[in-house]
Amino acid sequence: MLKAEEFSFNENITVVDNAQFQAHYSLYEGYIKKYNEIDAIFKAGDDQPGEANSTYSKFRGLKRGESYSLNAIILHELYFSNIGGKENVVPDSVLKLIERDFGTFENWELDFIATAKASRGWTILAFEQRTQRFMNMSLDTHDMGGIVLGFPLIVLDVYEHAYFMQYGTDKVSYINNFLYNVNWLTVKDRAELFYNLS
Ligand SMILES: [Fe+2]
Repeated sequence: MLKAEEFSFNENITVVDNAQFQAHYSLYEGYIKKYNEIDAIFKAGDDQPGEANSTYSKFRGLKRGESYSLNAIILHELYFSNIGGKENVVPDSVLKLIERDFGTFENWELDFIATAKASRGWTILAFEQRTQRFMNMSLDTHDMGGIVLGFPLIVLDVYEHAYFMQYGTDKVSYINNFLYNVNWLTVKDRAELFYNLS
């Protein structure tokens, strides 16, 4: 059984206000609840595997719901923990990797912003392990559009529920404010799983 991680609004979070943050957090708790419901059905043996069918079946519905809700949980935890950067300074070691694959930091930012504008669900700067390169991934839902070996370094939620209460239709301001509020120390920690960054 999964428990929701604690994420609290604080003065370092500037991309969203407290009301928007709290509303978003409650949606995250909802995904935890649904995942646990699905998991309990599997554990109880009430998943009807013998009837599994790709057009319609209870088992298919559970498997779709399982990946949808678990991806939602993971992505929201990554998002909540990579906002609130006190100082928006990109560590040199991370900057070098971005420049390696995008030429300049500005090129990466332009591509990230364009990807976010084009996405309906999530935009992720990922280390893609097949190509061994950083790339900006575009997801339209929690479970659609991600590259399987793309490890998330920066996660931006662009579902309307993430910003609409505060920003209305001004998605671009939300994206720009997110970029000012990225917690680059968290990003560096994630990149260090693959690179020895001093
Ligand atoms: Fe969200």
